[in-house]
Amino acid sequence: MPPTASIHGQWTTRLAFILAATGSAVGLGNIWRFPYIAGENGGGAFVLVYLGCILLIGLPVMIAEIMLGRRGRQSPINTMTSLSREEGVSTGWASIGWIGVVTGFLILSFYSVVAGWALSYIFKSGAGGFVGLDASGSEAMFDGMLASPEALLAWHTIFMVMVGIVVARGVQSGLEKAVTILMPLLFVMLLVMVGYAVVQGNFAEGLAFMLAPDFSELSANAVLLAMGQAFFTLSLGMGAIMIYGSYLQSDASIPRTAGVVVGADTLVAIVAGLAIFPIVLGAGLSPGEGPGLIFVTLPLAFGEMPGGLIFGTVFFILLSFAAWTSAISIAEPAVAWLVETVGMTRVAATTVLAIAAWTLGIAALLSLNVWSDYTLFDMGVLDFLDYLTANILLPLGGFLIAVFAGWRMTRGSVSAELAMRSPALFGLWYFLVRFVAPVAILLVFLRAVELI
Ligand code: TRP
Repeated sequence: MPPTASIHGQWTTRLAFILAATGSAVGLGNIWRFPYIAGENGGGAFVLVYLGCILLIGLPVMIAEIMLGRRGRQSPINTMTSLSREEGVSTGWASIGWIGVVTGFLILSFYSVVAGWALSYIFKSGAGGFVGLDASGSEAMFDGMLASPEALLAWHTIFMVMVGIVVARGVQSGLEKAVTILMPLLFVMLLVMVGYAVVQGNFAEGLAFMLAPDFSELSANAVLLAMGQAFFTLSLGMGAIMIYGSYLQSDASIPRTAGVVVGADTLVAIVAGLAIFPIVLGAGLSPGEGPGLIFVTLPLAFGEMPGGLIFGTVFFILLSFAAWTSAISIAEPAVAWLVETVGMTRVAATTVLAIAAWTLGIAALLSLNVWSDYTLFDMGVLDFLDYLTANILLPLGGFLIAVFAGWRMTRGSVSAELAMRSPALFGLWYFLVRFVAPVAILLVFLRAVELI
């Protein structure tokens, strides 16, 4: 029998959970990753497939993941073991938790490197580095940063320490409050950027690029990337949302809560796109620029707009903050497991995980410069880690979560935990989680490896 409360604590209110889960979801995935992946894959059609994945796979899997966490009330590994026992099925389903821990470790390593870019840009902006910048100057600034292993290492280290400090102290204290203030502020800053893009950028073309679908541009691999992005941006498939769910009160409505988180996350991604593409196209840059897209584009806007020095600095502070609240959730499942099962203190568990991810992060950051010739499947270490986790491991985790909730638990258990008032909505979710999500994930996988 799973415990009735988590030993790690509980969110004080349903709102606290919403903020924490939104803090987890909204991060580099929305503002850095979404625009550059959408840009590389032709825009409109990609965005439409992404939105479809959010609605038909992301939302039902998020409901399932929170539900499993709240019912198990432990780290994902132990939650899945207890729930399997409770349902009388193989405890091999604990592999959902194991895969999640490994995936989280891999994500944390490169996420911290990219978050380091955002930290570094706070100071570039603050020192007036964006003033009078043109497109090629902005590209040179970004490339210059990537060319310096020392600088990348310093920022990566600082970010990992920031993550470690919060995780070691426990998720609730401090973070809950910070998220309340900083997330809305980030959203307002994005709206300021959209305002700038409307006035100064090529808004019509940017809008068309992002929203007008051209399906001839859409490869099978792009569909895989859109699905991977949906998992990555919603923090799904590795137990981060599951463990946040394990700290949620029993009487909070899971579907409504998940709806708010998914809605907020999607809104931020779309608004980020609306801010970025008009500026990219207005400045004659390519939307297919790659991972440097926002770091090359936004400084152009900040360099020109009145008050840009302050806006730019504040923007990158907020972006770093968004990355911080996300990275914490990536670490939490592994740390909770080390505390529960290995018997480590939170501080020791956090230290072990942070050092391991920091070390792998060094390989990721070296792949941007001195190791740029070494590739796996044509990708450097950083790109490979990103591709493997977002497009393969997270959807795999999501698939297993959907199958477990839809097919291994009894209908009675899931409906008791979700306690939805509308039988029709429950039926809809159950159908999505049993059939639509697993089949869609499977089809996208098979198509990507050209088996269908
Ligand atoms: N969703 C976050 C973002 O968009 C990143 C993130 C946090 C994440 N926790 C996760 C991604 C768990 C995958 C799994 O930046």
